[in-house]
Amino acid sequence: MTTYRLASIPGDGIGVDVTVEARKVLDRVSARFGFSLEWTEFDWSCERYAQLGAMMPEDGVAQLSAYDGILLGAVGFPGVPDHVSLWGLLIPLRRAFQQYVNLRPVRLLPGTTSVLAGRKAEELELVIVRENSEGEYSAIGGRHNAGRPDEFVLQESVFTRVGVERIIRYAFELARTRSSRVCSATKSNGLIHSMPFWDEIFAEVAAEFPDVRSERMHVDALAARMVQAPDRLDVVVASNLFGDILSDLAAAITGGLGMAPSGNINPSGESPSMFEAVHGSAPDIAGQGIANPVAQILAAAMLVEHLGETVAAQAIRAAVDRVLDEGRVRTPDLGGTDTTERLGTAVAEALG
Ligand code: NAD
Ligand code: IPM
Ligand code: MN
Repeated sequence: MTTYRLASIPGDGIGVDVTVEARKVLDRVSARFGFSLEWTEFDWSCERYAQLGAMMPEDGVAQLSAYDGILLGAVGFPGVPDHVSLWGLLIPLRRAFQQYVNLRPVRLLPGTTSVLAGRKAEELELVIVRENSEGEYSAIGGRHNAGRPDEFVLQESVFTRVGVERIIRYAFELARTRSSRVCSATKSNGLIHSMPFWDEIFAEVAAEFPDVRSERMHVDALAARMVQAPDRLDVVVASNLFGDILSDLAAAITGGLGMAPSGNINPSGESPSMFEAVHGSAPDIAGQGIANPVAQILAAAMLVEHLGETVAAQAIRAAVDRVLDEGRVRTPDLGGTDTTERLGTAVAEALG
């Protein structure tokens, strides 16, 4: 029997609640499909920061590097500034492990309705391929003339040829397995260095994929299209910041943040990939046991798919679909009154 060694970092807020449910589902699916999971849990979080002054130990990356995959809850909670908590854990892990693809698939799940009136499930299925290692997320810059009337800050972006090319190529290859359409998010009318460079590389890579229909849209217009004509989008490739924003929007039109999974993927397999929901720690509902665990359960399905357990991944998605379609168990974001635990257990039980 194959045994996978997995790391779990529940993190902060509802990250903890939804990770418990995702692990429940994973333990059930592994028993059913003949593989075993050996878990190690890491308490890296804002709580750890409050006690020890660091989100993770200094050798945190080394500790994780031996695992076959990582399940992450969410990072960030009031009390620790977001740039401290996120740059102390999530962002360094994405970079250290070269998880340069942030894959964020969304679809309208059975038994749920979109905020977009009259849209059917087949019109609402797309994937954001987000650059996850560079771009607008940069520590380069700083504050100048502090305390003076001419005070200013500089926030640099870094777009490398290697970094842009590999994420765009990943999107085109993915498109070949789906609709053969790629839309690139640009903003070359406003950002005069980074985005023209992005567009140039997009055109070069597109020329290598004559069988894939490609287009580019300014990200503002693309956001409008996602609301008005989502059926005209399938694979959307975007820089780190644009992909971040578009993925919350994509989640919103397909049932909400409680339903959208995400994979931080290192396609080479040389270091572990990390799976999490698109959403954050939701301090407004933390500690109430009412967060929707579906996004994290679907992230867990992406994790087992990444391990090569495709049938198990499909079984998790089918179990989620069945439970939502029945409509008996619903968390408040889905219009119900059930708890995180009830919905997680219902999905685990639907696996048989
Ligand atoms: P958020 O995603 O945590 O919450 C936004 C809204 O969506 C809130 O009203 C919340 O209650 C709701 N929501 C989110 N997930 C839900 C779920 N599973 N079920 C029901 N409702 C849900 O975004 P935010 O408020 O901007 O961020 C809160 C904290 O999380 C911040 O510290 C932020 O930096 C961090 N964050 C972390 C990650 C991550 O670790 N990957 C992602 C996003 C935000
Ligand atoms: C996400 C989050 C993070 C990001 C934040 C918390 C740094 O919003 O995973 O989408 O922007 O990457
Ligand atoms: Mn985000």
